[in-house]
Amino acid sequence: MTTQWTPGRVDAPPVLPTGFTLGAATSAYQVEGAVSADGRGRSIWDTFADTPGKVVGGDTGEVASDHYHRYREDVRLMAELGLTAYRFSVAWPRIVPAGSGAVNEAGLDFYRRLVDALLEAGIEPWITLYHWDLPQPLEDAGGWPNRDTAYRFAEFADVVHGALGDRVSNWITVNEPWCAAFVGYASGEHAPGRREPRAAVHAAHHLMLGHGLAAQAIRARSASARIGVGLNFYPVAPASDSEADRDAARRIDGLQNRFFADAVLRGAYPADVLEDLSAVTAPEEFIREGDLATISVPIDTLCINYYSRYRVSGTPGTGKENASAAPTGAGSPWVGSEHVSFLSNDLPVTNMNWEIDETGLSEILVRLARDYPGVELAVTENGAAFDDEVSPDGEVHDGERLAYLDAHLRACRDVVEQGVPLIGYFAWTFLDNFEWAWGYGKRFGLVYVDFATQRRIPKDSARWYAEVIKARRAPA
Ligand code: NOJ
Repeated sequence: MTTQWTPGRVDAPPVLPTGFTLGAATSAYQVEGAVSADGRGRSIWDTFADTPGKVVGGDTGEVASDHYHRYREDVRLMAELGLTAYRFSVAWPRIVPAGSGAVNEAGLDFYRRLVDALLEAGIEPWITLYHWDLPQPLEDAGGWPNRDTAYRFAEFADVVHGALGDRVSNWITVNEPWCAAFVGYASGEHAPGRREPRAAVHAAHHLMLGHGLAAQAIRARSASARIGVGLNFYPVAPASDSEADRDAARRIDGLQNRFFADAVLRGAYPADVLEDLSAVTAPEEFIREGDLATISVPIDTLCINYYSRYRVSGTPGTGKENASAAPTGAGSPWVGSEHVSFLSNDLPVTNMNWEIDETGLSEILVRLARDYPGVELAVTENGAAFDDEVSPDGEVHDGERLAYLDAHLRACRDVVEQGVPLIGYFAWTFLDNFEWAWGYGKRFGLVYVDFATQRRIPKDSARWYAEVIKARRAPA
């Protein structure tokens, strides 16, 4: 194995406890391809990607990383790296092509084979049920802003658990409802590309309701299933102590973090966030009696996706704006929180222009353990895109990603040592893949994919990650 990983920046790998899950994650539309195979229906991402101007370069998920056909090779690679777990999503349009009703056994068979291959390789499957690929017929019926979608989702969850629940313990209901609701239905940068703030708030609630109903469906089938929801958290700091800046931080933290976590773990949306949102919709327009009890049905694992942190100002034009963190305009995802500027901290950035700050990860983990006691925590996504290239020696020397992962894993180790109930970490992502509206230009993978040939090359970061996994040991 090569040892050319940024000498001087990374010493010995961080040592995590034996039993600490160290895996990698993907999602169906981003890696599978095979969009018409074996009876798969269409999803909102097929439609969106086929619409000119929506995805950079006109890229689509039609072939992606061809994981649908190459899953055996991919699982072998995971085993070579020693991954203890693999988080992937099941494509709703493969399994219930019309969104509700008839179940496509051929679609389920793919996941049966994948789960079997993982278990044979000693890799624990973690299933995400919704990673943004809503069946198109359900969008045609109104999408997530339509309450009915939450019930269709719970039926789908029941079908998937019925097929795989005997061999899969870890279930993540919904991935990043904030993105699915606000980037999909408010800013319109993701499928289905709608710019309707009011509908976006309703979508957020129905995604949470879908989570709760799906969690109930899984629990009814299995007392021992480990159930979680995947939320994307960002620490949010005010740019100054001014009233305007502190209020901006409260509003962004409210919609990004507290809205979802409070609903699931405290059984109530924060009053201040509902008040902010009243500019676009009143609570009684979307919340029905009993909804919050459903949403807050007990879960086992709070799944955390972490990439960066925000510093915000309520007095626009007062600092160096970080354009990439500041989706603005008519379709801003910050519904009810307009007129906020996102400021740079002058830190190095990834290829997504996201600032690299592992202290944000420890901060969020410590905060979640304090504010929402009683659930275990797992980092279900963390990673970075960089401009990777195959070197003349045939390898991919991604020292920047390696240093990124190293720093964030050290943050995890430190909080574990402080007693935070963090049980695992999944790198985003296993393979280079379709990065949504950015297409294939943004490479987050531990494994490089040559999209012309589908050849896989484990990057230096993958080899280093294998060392981290090997280095785990029992606390002294
Ligand atoms: C969050 C999403 O869950 C995942 O699909 C995406 O690729 C990564 N973040 C990186 O943007």
